[in-house]
Amino acid sequence: MKLAITGGAGFIGSNYVHHVLQHCPDDSVIVIDALTYAGNLQNLEAVANDERLQFVKMDILDPRVVEVLHGCDVIVNFAAESHVDRSIENAKAFVRTNVEGTYNLLHAARRKGRPLRADRYG
Ligand SMILES: NC(=O)c1ccc[n+]([C@@H]2O[C@H](COP(=O)([O-])OP(=O)(O)OC[C@H]3O[C@@H](n4cnc5c(N)ncnc54)[C@H](O)[C@@H]3O)[C@@H](O)[C@H]2O)c1
Repeated sequence: MKLAITGGAGFIGSNYVHHVLQHCPDDSVIVIDALTYAGNLQNLEAVANDERLQFVKMDILDPRVVEVLHGCDVIVNFAAESHVDRSIENAKAFVRTNVEGTYNLLHAARRKGRPLRADRYG
């Protein structure tokens, strides 16, 4: 399978990327991450040279995400505003990424015109 792992430079997402590359030798991964304050490419440093891994810096709200998802079988969505204390200061960013961003991924999956699982963890 080819997995699209959104938010793959974050805490849970990067651990999931490591897990897939270590335990699923026939699978490949494309990480889609906007690299916000929460994303860190150092989380993927140990697997950066794995030829099964691709990285795309992109916001999941970007309509062009459908192009990046071309050829993927699964979306595993870890892209999120996850720091609850920040939601008290600015809830808008949370609604945009966590709600509209998830919708955009589901919409992109539908536009692909073939069965494609869209899983959201958390
Ligand atoms: N950390 C935990 O203990 C925990 C526990 C249960 C569930 N979860 C859930 O798992 C998910 C990921 O949590 P985490 O702790 O890894 O979060 P995190 O903040 O460490 O990582 C989030 C990642 O999403 C990226 N991102 C944010 N907005 C984006 C956008 N609009 N487009 C693309 N990328 C974007 C960030 O750059 C970052 O790499 C969240 O839904 C969270 O609620 C986390």
